[in-house]
Amino acid sequence: MLLLAAPMPFAASFAQDFDAAQPTVLITGSNRGLGFAFAEHYAKRGWNVIATTRSPESSKELAALADEYERVRVEQLDVTDYAGITALADAYAGTAIDVLINNAGIYGDRDRQAWGSLDPEMFHTINAINVLGPLKIAEAFAAHVAASRHKKIVSITSGAGSVSPDRVAGGGVFYGISKAALNMAMRKAGAELAEHGIIVATIAPGLVLTDMLKTNRPSLAPRARSATEAVDAMAAVIDSLDQTYDGQPRNFDGSVLPW
Ligand SMILES: NC(=O)c1ccc[n+]([C@@H]2O[C@H](COP(=O)([O-])OP(=O)(O)OC[C@H]3O[C@@H](n4cnc5c(N)ncnc54)[C@H](OP(=O)(O)O)[C@@H]3O)[C@@H](O)[C@H]2O)c1
Repeated sequence: MLLLAAPMPFAASFAQDFDAAQPTVLITGSNRGLGFAFAEHYAKRGWNVIATTRSPESSKELAALADEYERVRVEQLDVTDYAGITALADAYAGTAIDVLINNAGIYGDRDRQAWGSLDPEMFHTINAINVLGPLKIAEAFAAHVAASRHKKIVSITSGAGSVSPDRVAGGGVFYGISKAALNMAMRKAGAELAEHGIIVATIAPGLVLTDMLKTNRPSLAPRARSATEAVDAMAAVIDSLDQTYDGQPRNFDGSVLPW
């Protein structure tokens, strides 16, 4: 059983610009792609936004978002830096986080996860970022989420992690494995955190025109939607999550993703 700290008022130093009447969201990998679209989406809704990125100093778009919306805070976080995860969770001790979005992820080098040249180092790198990072973040921020009103942890999965026969063939071997493992990691987290009323969900965005898709699956680009469209759809699914959620991965339209 995970023991969680009691809810406390906003921490003075880190959340002083936040409006206690508004919900708070934390997003990983928020400097570009879907992560940035999530940050922008919740900023426009007036939420307090903790927008994390590996490199705050090089993210001009995030800096501009924080300039425009006073309740956007940009924080440094590499999801494979476990000491850094703990340090950020400690820095925000006492801040209720309503929605925690594990968005950061990599596809990985295609050649190093192609059948016939499977590279163990690539396997470990992909799984550290796509699986263990989200799990450690869910663990580290569970008390913050438990102290909130919405109590939701959402990880961005993929149809590539589905075992549905029509989805298994094609694509990166390790990437698909990592997203299936992410789904299980979040089922485990959900089982641990259910007693605190925390809803732990996985949602797939569909095909989205981000750097990841352009670099690794360019042939799919004509069928992809914009990050803003995908995030608007996923945010509606997040809004709709309640205690009836069964833990099954969802597509961006709310339908069940076979897994
Ligand atoms: N695009 C799609 O069609 C699609 C489909 C299914 C699922 N997804 C999932 O959606 C999520 C977002 O993908 P995207 O399409 O927006 O990809 P993207 O444009 O490539 O962005 C990936 C983000 O993850 C961050 N990131 C990578 N490694 C990190 C680390 N170790 N620590 C912290 N951040 C890290 C990147 O930061 P840097 O800029 O520092 O590298 C970037 O912000 C991923 O989980 C992906 O698997 C995407």
